[in-house]
Amino acid sequence: MNRIVVYTSKTGFTEKYAKWIAEELKCEAVPLKKANLSELANYGQVIYGGWIMGGMVSGYDKIKKLNLKNLIVFCSGMSVPTDTVRDNIAKQNDIPADRLFCFEGGFAPDRVGFMGKMIVKMISGSISKKEDKTPEDIHMLEAVKGADNTDRAAIPPLVEMAETI
Ligand SMILES: Cc1cc2nc3c(=O)[nH]c(=O)nc-3n(C[C@H](O)[C@H](O)[C@H](O)COP(=O)(O)O)c2cc1C
Repeated sequence: MNRIVVYTSKTGFTEKYAKWIAEELKCEAVPLKKANLSELANYGQVIYGGWIMGGMVSGYDKIKKLNLKNLIVFCSGMSVPTDTVRDNIAKQNDIPADRLFCFEGGFAPDRVGFMGKMIVKMISGSISKKEDKTPEDIHMLEAVKGADNTDRAAIPPLVEMAETI
């Protein structure tokens, strides 16, 4: 089957996953801004990945409009990708939960720009005020200091799905 990985990455974590997935599936990984959207329907399968911003999968709005038949979506964020996180992101972005894979990215304070830093400061500020912090909250508060938590070992379930659907 001819397939393609398309991605949006601001600081490189999602790009890392896109390239690992493309390597496993022996196909191309192309940034969304360089992809020819009108040609994506010619692929038997499209795998789209975007970074999470305030719960939204960046760039997915453009992909969604194409109504692609065989689409798999992944995202990378700084939160721990629990099933609850996955289900919330699926709901918020209107992505079928069984076609969505959430991976742990990281946080690169020096590459997100002033606004990015401010927004993340607000998110982490509200988490630090919580009285009963979950282990995920504590992990996120550590990640905002700067971390690369990408892990190639997380991609096999996506690769297996891509090869079977
Ligand atoms: C403005 C902003 C908002 C973010 N919101 C979230 C969020 O809601 N949930 C989350 O898990 N990560 C959030 N992040 C963290 C990024 O999703 C994370 O750093 C991601 O791995 C970046 O991917 P990239 O390197 O491909 O750009 C946010 C980062 C920024 C800069």
